[in-house]
Amino acid sequence: MAQQLQIDDIQGFTVRGYTFFYARYLFLQFKSAAQGRQWLKQVVEWTTPATPWKEKPRVVQNIAFTHPGFETLGLTKTSLDSFSKEFIEGMDKRCRILGDTEYPSRPDDWEIGNPNEPDKQIHALLILFGMTPKDLNEFSARHEEVRNQVGGIEVLHSVDGVRRLDKKEHFGFLDGASQPQIEGIDAASNGADDPNSPVRRIKAGEFVLGYVNEYGIIPPSPVVPADEHSQKLPEVPEQPNMRDFGKNGTYIVCRKLYQNVAAFREFLQENVTQFEAQTSKLETVSEIEWLAAKLVGRWRSGTPLMLLPDRDDPIAGKREHNDFSFKDDPDGLRCPIGSHIRRSNPRDTLGLEGAHGTESYKAVNRHRILRRGMPYGPALQGDKDDREDRGLMFLCINADIAVQFEFVQKWMNDPSFNGLYKDQDVFAHNHEGKTYASIPVEPVRKRVLLKQNFVTVKGGAYLFMPGMTALRYLASM
Ligand code: HEM
Repeated sequence: MAQQLQIDDIQGFTVRGYTFFYARYLFLQFKSAAQGRQWLKQVVEWTTPATPWKEKPRVVQNIAFTHPGFETLGLTKTSLDSFSKEFIEGMDKRCRILGDTEYPSRPDDWEIGNPNEPDKQIHALLILFGMTPKDLNEFSARHEEVRNQVGGIEVLHSVDGVRRLDKKEHFGFLDGASQPQIEGIDAASNGADDPNSPVRRIKAGEFVLGYVNEYGIIPPSPVVPADEHSQKLPEVPEQPNMRDFGKNGTYIVCRKLYQNVAAFREFLQENVTQFEAQTSKLETVSEIEWLAAKLVGRWRSGTPLMLLPDRDDPIAGKREHNDFSFKDDPDGLRCPIGSHIRRSNPRDTLGLEGAHGTESYKAVNRHRILRRGMPYGPALQGDKDDREDRGLMFLCINADIAVQFEFVQKWMNDPSFNGLYKDQDVFAHNHEGKTYASIPVEPVRKRVLLKQNFVTVKGGAYLFMPGMTALRYLASM
């Protein structure tokens, strides 16, 4: 039996892919607890819950906070200490785990959340979506009025996300093809409850606090003192003087990832020639498209190599994009073991001893993330770099940042992932010219030197997106 989710109490961003084309990410700082709470009081009821829409609204908003943000708003030490370790530490302190250790992706180089700029410490992330740029700008202006009226709420950074009509990110691939289906949210379709299916639905507790996760437990949740303000929050059976602040909330990872599109295109051009034996047989796709697909594991249209290894042919429908496994391709001849999708979701072939098939799915499904990012910046026209800032506002949702996002990032960075050697994900940000992308072909595997990074981390934050009741509690404290 699927768990019943309190959908009206979950912020919409957590469990719904909104599919808006325009977004604004506002990184805020509160100058005082009083002003922060006053601001929240004014805007809290504009927040969009996950309640199904009868009609799609023209604008939506969701709010998340950093640990210093909660501290500034006045959460007690006991409450502050009850959040997860990595959230308390913050993204910059996790730089070694994330591989954010080399210029220009180190916290010292970041434009958002740089630890050397305490006056720019992020307290909250306000995410606004609009159906049109006009809708978004009008909503944004209403927010500006509130901020002016309250005072002491500074916008440290504002980044606009724009989804392209073809839903492709800046390197030219369809983005958002694979997304975990959630038990209790997404409708049951073929394979939804089969432990051997790549599209089995994932327990809600992996993405929302207060529900059973893939380990069969309800993960720890932050708490606040039981007082007159917190009465509407759920009780905590083992701590009668506390209330469950985390219920229906979740952790969010936000990273601004710059994409060097010109360098990526040049890299494809430079390396494609060594695959002539393979690419000369292609009939409907170019050599470049073939190499690009080998690095990601999907053609630029989103069609997986596991389904069509030699030609790109967009397959209609969402499920078909994901209902495939890697077991018939143990050496990665169709879809390289180190390709982006096979590293970030190895499905039934996580090469741990004894972890194949069902066991692999079981292990891998404890490391899934819901991706909610959007491209920012203009598309590159032509092949020459135009110095514009463009990339991906990478946002993902997970109930456990260490076990989910950080784990996947480690898979991407790991030179010996699944038996590989000196290999890395093409979209990792720490290649330093010492790692390769291996592309298995007959008779011998070939390797492409990743001589530079195509992605740079420009900063971000670890955040917590409270449930609606917890959000109102913060405003009323
Ligand atoms: C600029 C950097 C990145 C780009 C351009 C990028 C692009 C893509 C593309 C094109 C896909 C395949 C289509 C899809 O399923 O959406 C994909 C899938 C995915 N990416 Fe990324 N990505 C980036 C960074 C990351 C990072 C940092 C992570 C996590 C640490 C990540 C995790 C994933 C996951 C989990 C999938 C789905 C795999 C599956 O279930 O098949 N990506 N990405």
